[in-house]
Order: sequence, then C-alpha cells, then structure tokens
Amino acid sequence: MKTLLIWAGLIGLFFGLAIIAGIYGASSWMMKEKHPSQDRSFVISHDANVQEGKRLATIRGCNDCHGKRLAGGDFYGLRAPNLTIISRQYSDNDLERSIRQAIRPDGTSVYSMTSNTYQYLSDLDLSHIITYIRSLEDESKNIDYLSPSFHYRIGIILGEHKPIVDSILTHIPPKLTPRNHTEKLGKYLAYSVCAECHGVDLKGYKDFSPSLLTSLAYQGQDFEILMTEGIGLGERDLGLMSVSSKERFSLFSDEEISALYTYFQSERFVQDMQ
Ligand code: HEC
Ligand code: HEC
Repeated sequence: MKTLLIWAGLIGLFFGLAIIAGIYGASSWMMKEKHPSQDRSFVISHDANVQEGKRLATIRGCNDCHGKRLAGGDFYGLRAPNLTIISRQYSDNDLERSIRQAIRPDGTSVYSMTSNTYQYLSDLDLSHIITYIRSLEDESKNIDYLSPSFHYRIGIILGEHKPIVDSILTHIPPKLTPRNHTEKLGKYLAYSVCAECHGVDLKGYKDFSPSLLTSLAYQGQDFEILMTEGIGLGERDLGLMSVSSKERFSLFSDEEISALYTYFQSERFVQDMQ
C-alpha cells in the first residue's frame, strides 16, 4: 500500500512537472514567432524637443508601465524594460518599429505594450518622445529583460495576451501632427491616447471601459472638467479614468481639449463609430 502511494505521488509529480514544462515551452514558442515589418527609414526630426517629449510621454502613460523614470516596470507579470538603455542601444528605426509597429529588432511581436495606440503617432510626436527618453539619466545599467511570469504565460496560451502586431494596420502614419485642423487634431488624439483603454475602435472593453460615445453626454465645461480634474457627470469618481485625467490629461493644452471636444461632437465621430 505504501509503495503504491509513493508511485502514485511520483507519477503525479511527473505529470505536474510535464505540464509546467509544457506551458513554458509552448508560450516561449508562441512568443518567438517572427513577423514582417515595414521599413519606414525613420529618423528623428530636427524639430524634436525634450520638454514637449516629456509632456507627450506623460500623456501617453509610458511611465505607467515602464516605471517613474522609465527605468523599468512590471505589467501584470511581463517586464516593461528599461527604456533609458534601450533608447540608446536601438537605432531610430528600431525604436519606430517597436513603438509604432509592435515589432522588435529580432522580428518578434510585443505582447502588452500598447503599440496599437501608438501606431497613430506622427513622426514628429514620436521624435519628441524618443528625444525625451534619450535625455534621461540612467542609474542601473540593466535592460532587465525578465522571463514572463507563469501566470502571464498561461494567459498567452489561453489567448488572453495576444501579439499586438495583430492589431496594427498597414497605414502610413502622418509626418506632422494635424495642429492646424481642430477636428483632425481631436481624432488624432482620440486614437493615439484614449484608444489605449477604450479600445482601438474606441468602442470600449467589456467589463473595463465604456465606448467613447459616452463622451457625447459631456457638454462644454463638463468635458473640460472630466479631462483636467477627472470628475465625471454627477460628481462621480471614475477610478482609473479620474487618475489618468489628473496625472496625464491635465497636461493637454486648451487647444487639444477643445479639439477632442470638437471631434466627439462632430458627425465624423458618429460615422467613425458605426
Ligand atoms: C500598458 C503598458 C505599457 C505602456 C503604456 C507602454 N509600454 Fe512600452 N512596453 C511594455 C511592455 C510590457 C514591454 C515589453 C514587450 C512586450 O510587451 O512584450 C514594452 C516594450 C517597449 C519597448 C521595447 C520593445 C523591445 O524591442 O523590446 C519600447 C521601445 C517601449 N516599450 C517604449 C514605450 C514608449 C515610448 C511608451 C509610451 C509612448 C510605452 N512604451 C508605453 C508596456 C508598456
Ligand atoms: C488608462 C486608461 C484610460 C485612458 C487612457 C482613457 N480612459 Fe476614459 N475611462 C477609463 C475607464 C476605466 C473608464 C470607466 C470608468 C468607470 O466607469 O468607473 C473610463 C470612462 C470614460 C468616460 C465615461 C465617463 C462616464 O460618465 O461614465 C469617458 C467620457 C472617457 N472615459 C473619456 C476618455 C477620453 C476622452 C480619453 C482620452 C483623452 C480617455 N477616456 C482615456 C480608462 C481610460
């Protein structure tokens, strides 16, 4: 009886280990898949500026995942690497491909990085952001790529985490931000900022965020208060949205807030949402 139990235990242990090894092997294999990318011969614009880059990176929330000084952070079990080092090691073109096309220099896709939002960034805004990142001092000399956690790997196998490259369009991003056209600027900001949490189609994520059609209810001042102070209609606290408004969207200029407002109130927006 005793030996039988020992055998049962050993067999159980063997299958347990085999399943763990299988999950590691299968998720690694999935993450190693190579994808083609476009060569856009991207080079940083001469007009790029550190201060503007800092503002744009904060609005886009790069430090929410990559840590306060962009020196590395954790996103639900996947390491968001130290950008101060990566930004110096990667060429301008490599950075463009990682950030806007979701593809690393070795051809693999990123999995949690929101490149499907950044794919809309103009060359100029991307230049500002990279110039800012390269201006940061780095205390550690580590890129700190870490193996994804076991939990994250299960998510990959279950299809909860997908290669972001699957939601990248083959469009040509604009060279300049459409600053001289209010409605176009609003659309640009909605897709390159709000899409991060409201989905690439701005229709929201089930059980997480609403469709941006909800913004139609915010008239005039209410919209400005939502963007700068994070207070919802009826004085509601909106959790992550309120925090993001206070820490990020309050850096929008008045011109940018009114551009978003103009876009959300336009017929174009209602058409885009169909
Ligand atoms: C939602 C979390 C999140 C946000 C927001 C985010 N990143 Fe990332 N980023 C990651 C993670 C996680 C990785 C590791 C790669 C992956 O996702 O598989 C990464 C990887 C990268 C890489 C390296 C890709 C490679 O080649 O390994 C660069 C460059 C980068 N991010 C830049 C940025 C910039 C610039 C911003 C802001 C405009 C930003 N990230 C915002 C999570 C994020
Ligand atoms: C970091 C994630 C995140 C980003 C980025 C984000 N939102 Fe939200 N937003 C949320 C979440 C989560 C909710 C749901 C909040 C709730 O109901 O508690 C929400 C709710 C909203 C609502 C509904 C408010 C209501 O009355 O219920 C509006 C409107 C909105 N967001 C507009 C925007 C706009 C415009 C942008 C871009 C400038 C944006 N959001 C970017 C996470 C985000």
